[in-house]
Amino acid sequence: MKRIFSGVQPTGNLHLGNYLGAIRNFVPLQDDYDCIYCVVDMHAITVWQDPKVLKANTREVAAAYLAAGIDPKRCIIFNQSQVAAHAELAWIFNCVARLGWLNRMTQFKEKAGKHRENASVGLYAYPNLMAADILAYKATHVPVGEDQKQHLELTRDIAQKFNSDFKVDFFPLLEPLILGTATRVMSLRDGTKKMSKSDPSDYSRITMTDDADAIAKKIRKATSDPDLLPGREVLDGTGAVPEAARQARPEAYNLLAIYAALADKPMADVMDEFAGAQFSHFKAVLTDLAVAALGPIGAEMKHLSDDPGAVDAVLHDGAERARAIAEPILAEVYDIVGFLRP
Ligand code: TRP
Repeated sequence: MKRIFSGVQPTGNLHLGNYLGAIRNFVPLQDDYDCIYCVVDMHAITVWQDPKVLKANTREVAAAYLAAGIDPKRCIIFNQSQVAAHAELAWIFNCVARLGWLNRMTQFKEKAGKHRENASVGLYAYPNLMAADILAYKATHVPVGEDQKQHLELTRDIAQKFNSDFKVDFFPLLEPLILGTATRVMSLRDGTKKMSKSDPSDYSRITMTDDADAIAKKIRKATSDPDLLPGREVLDGTGAVPEAARQARPEAYNLLAIYAALADKPMADVMDEFAGAQFSHFKAVLTDLAVAALGPIGAEMKHLSDDPGAVDAVLHDGAERARAIAEPILAEVYDIVGFLRP
């Protein structure tokens, strides 16, 4: 069977963007693929993490995977640092990838910002570790949000250069799977900014553990505009929202996209339902939908947070199964590279 690998960083405040753009899409894949879902704690420490909080956040991502419906028997769920092959292969990739390739990574530029000299070396080498995550399992399919596409292209470049440098046909070239209608969920306060864990306003995001009251309050307070909701005639030939329309009413289209994703309906159908409606009506219906979709997941996450032992056992078992796949692949890589292992 084809193998999927994906990862989520345990950096706290798991929100609707993480759910709709990533975690939710992982669930149906388990029927058709061998799936490995990782909590990438080693990626998380490329920026400062409080150690106690990191542990709690690692369990929280694992709990989100489980609560969303990922079956730990059929899939492998584990945290990255438990499988040494990630770090070991990443070192080899540090020696395969070129500085020029990493210099082009837009995520590093965004995250390092103006203080590039002060960014960790790990943040710079982040994409090489991500390539190691994927290739340590020879995964061929990687579901990610739009913002990770550049990193996946780099992973392909690394696989290709490794194969050609060592004259082997060893690493497969992966296929990105960009999934879901709302891969980009925007802030509830400002529809031009991505929904983010680090936005200072809690009202900018719905988190996966928000209860019904919190969800209702955040949607009620979400920024809107004075017009009535648009109809499907604004959509382009492919059923997508044209960029100009989005720029004119970023909040309206964000809320509609969230509705479409939660209802699992095409945007056009949602617009048929709400064309000409007031935001107050639409927000009330959206609230019911969000509470119905997220409520049970949040409740299960809270339940799991009371039982950290159960989550740790899943991660332990997953790490063991992950090692069983990655270690033989790494042993072959070491041999190809010319490392002696008497
Ligand atoms: N960089 C990804 C993100 O921030 C997380 C990630 C780490 C990942 N390793 C991965 C995703 C491997 C897919 C495959 O979303």
